[in-house]
Amino acid sequence: MSEFSNPNLEVLISSEEIQQRIKQLGAEVARDYAGLNPLLIGVLKGACIFLSDLMRAAEIPLGLEFMAISSYGASMRTSGEVRILKDLDVAIEGRHILVVEDIVDTGLTLSYLLANLKSRGAASVKLAALLDKFDRREKEVPIDYLGFKIPDKFVVGYGLDFAERYRNLPFIAVVKNPEA
Ligand code: IMP
Repeated sequence: MSEFSNPNLEVLISSEEIQQRIKQLGAEVARDYAGLNPLLIGVLKGACIFLSDLMRAAEIPLGLEFMAISSYGASMRTSGEVRILKDLDVAIEGRHILVVEDIVDTGLTLSYLLANLKSRGAASVKLAALLDKFDRREKEVPIDYLGFKIPDKFVVGYGLDFAERYRNLPFIAVVKNPEA
C-alpha cells in the first residue's frame, strides 16, 4: 500500500493548497527582499521541503544556510533554553535573515533562535513558517510569512514527522491512531 493513501492518515491540507499558498508566499518574499540578497536559514529537519519550495517560488538572488536545534527536551520546557546542534557556516552581520521553519507550536524554539540570530548583528531577522498551531503558544513569535493556521492536533507530512516517519507525504495530515 502506498504510504500516501495510508488509512491511518486524515488529510488536513492538500498538496494543491500547499503549493498554491507557497507560490503566494514566494512572491511576497521576492517583493519584500528585492535587492537585499537575503539569507534563508532552514531549521533542520522539518523545514526542508517547505524551504525548497519557498526558495524556488522567490525569484530573486538569495543565500541558503541550515541550522539544527534540539527541541522538546525536558529542560527546554522549563527554561526555554535550546541547544544548537548545527550552527551556521557564515557570519550574518549586516545580512537580512529569513528563518524558515515547518511549524510554530509553543514558540519556545523560535523565540530563542530569533533572539540568538539578532544578537549576531543581522540587519533584520524575519520568520517564514508553513504552519501555526496558535492555541499552544507560550512565547509570542511574530510570523512574517505564514502558510496556514491549524488546530491543536499533531500533524505530519511535508517535512513534519512522527518518530521520523511521514516526512515525505506531499500533504499535511493528522495521524488518527499514533499506536498503529
Ligand atoms: P515549539 O518550540 O514548541 O514551537 O516547537 C517547534 C518544533 O516542534 C517544530 O519545529 C517541530 O519539529 C515540532 N512539532 C511541533 N508540533 C508538531 C506537530 O504537530 N508535528 C510534528 N512536529 C511538531
